[in-house]
Amino acid sequence: MIRQLLSFCRKGEQKREPVKIDELLEESSQLLRSSIPRNIKIRSNIADNIPPISGDATQIQQVILNLCTNAAHAMEKNGGTLTIELHEIPSLPTPDNHEQDGSVNDTESTQTFSALHSGSANKYVQLIIRDTGCGIEPAIKDKIFDPYFTTKDIDKGTGMGLSIVQGIVKSHDGHISVSSTQGRGTRFKILFPAVSDSRNQEIATPLRSLHGNEQILIVDDEPMLVEMFCEALEHFGYRVTSCTNPLRALSRFKESPWKFDLVMTDMSMPDISGDRLMEELLLIRPDIPIIVCSGFNAALEREELINKGAKEVLDKPFDIETLGLTIRQVLENNGSYLSEEKKCS
Ligand SMILES: Nc1ncnc2c1ncn2[C@@H]1O[C@H](COP(=O)(O)OP(=O)(O)OP(=O)(O)O)[C@@H](O)[C@H]1O
Ligand SMILES: [Mg+2]
Repeated sequence: MIRQLLSFCRKGEQKREPVKIDELLEESSQLLRSSIPRNIKIRSNIADNIPPISGDATQIQQVILNLCTNAAHAMEKNGGTLTIELHEIPSLPTPDNHEQDGSVNDTESTQTFSALHSGSANKYVQLIIRDTGCGIEPAIKDKIFDPYFTTKDIDKGTGMGLSIVQGIVKSHDGHISVSSTQGRGTRFKILFPAVSDSRNQEIATPLRSLHGNEQILIVDDEPMLVEMFCEALEHFGYRVTSCTNPLRALSRFKESPWKFDLVMTDMSMPDISGDRLMEELLLIRPDIPIIVCSGFNAALEREELINKGAKEVLDKPFDIETLGLTIRQVLENNGSYLSEEKKCS
């Protein structure tokens, strides 16, 4: 069934019309109930008055069905609950000036971005599809969106599902993220820019980018976290240098302070704490933007850290999307993105 639907999805045929995702979910629920095994419960939590998004209903339907099918596969052995949520998010930080935004790399999307950006809409529709299935092994989390990547038997999966989902979401100026715990379940979260009102039905503001190409120094004594941050940031296009030893990070920074555009450091580390490291770094380069990640008492420390020179403080745990958005925000407020743009052009 999914494969038949996918055959309708061809590049270049995308429509742009107001699409009501709540109505699409209504339509698909019948299909899902009949195709999903009985040991899987389906719950939905759909808010009222969801604004439409601008796009192609067939493609959005494919996104929903692909994610729900994956969720059902993940739960087929032990059963579980598939939860579908739809909410409106009133506003997200949007770029002050679209020329500073590097969200989209391919020309087609860049044109869409420029054409759509008129500063009108600032609302987003958030679709969450969550399951209580087997979860995704951390080692393959970065690969799941790759075309032909599958862990399923040949007759069960082609590995194209998520790559198509990601393509559709991107072409709608949206953003998809995933979080998963092995043995507990998986959550896919998608944000689409909403159509603001009937006058501007074709106009929506794309998301602030999570992408960039700046050089980032990450300092955290927890190797697993460092690895996760590196993978995520490299995925967003950044160049990343990582250190699990803060003193080593300091000496690397001393060697070439101009190499880095931003430093992200943990707060509590052996040898030298995050705030002390920050002070040392700022002595070497007073303009280096620094984000401090704090595991506990963050609310208390925040003001102090900002006074000491941190550009932003992130409370652990945070999701990758928050990390990406914060980094972009800090870099753009610091003006380094503009110089980066100049370097590129
Ligand atoms: N909800 C989920 N829970 C656990 N693993 C998942 C989930 N969604 C995707 N995956 C993992 O990501 C892989 C890729 O998913 P994708 O939808 O791209 O391909 P597929 O489902 O294997 O095949 P196809 O969708 O083409 O039939 C899956 O094989 C599976 O390992
Ligand atoms: Mg699939």
